[in-house]
Amino acid sequence: MRFYDKHVFFCTNERADGSDCCGKRGASKARDYMKNKVAELGISNLQNNIRINAAGCMNRCDEGPVIVVYPEGTWYSYMDEKDLDEIIEEHLRHGRVVERLKI
Ligand code: FES
Repeated sequence: MRFYDKHVFFCTNERADGSDCCGKRGASKARDYMKNKVAELGISNLQNNIRINAAGCMNRCDEGPVIVVYPEGTWYSYMDEKDLDEIIEEHLRHGRVVERLKI
């Protein structure tokens, strides 16, 4: 039995040398946005246990910023809050993969 229905990891890695990374593309802000939005919508509860976490580099830097959603292991890249809203509504809430954002 798994603990979370959906467990989302945001790469928020920032490179000290200033080279390209998810952190440089607004990943921490995006992670905060999704975490707050999930709480605001009230979709993380006993019936729908969703967890949003930060992670280090997941070695898909060229495709970033990236997230991965478990248990499916679905990878996404996103551009803005509209993309994150779509992932929340479609994948986290209804279990439907957002094909256009999948990597
Ligand atoms: S910096 Fe995000 S996957 Fe490497």
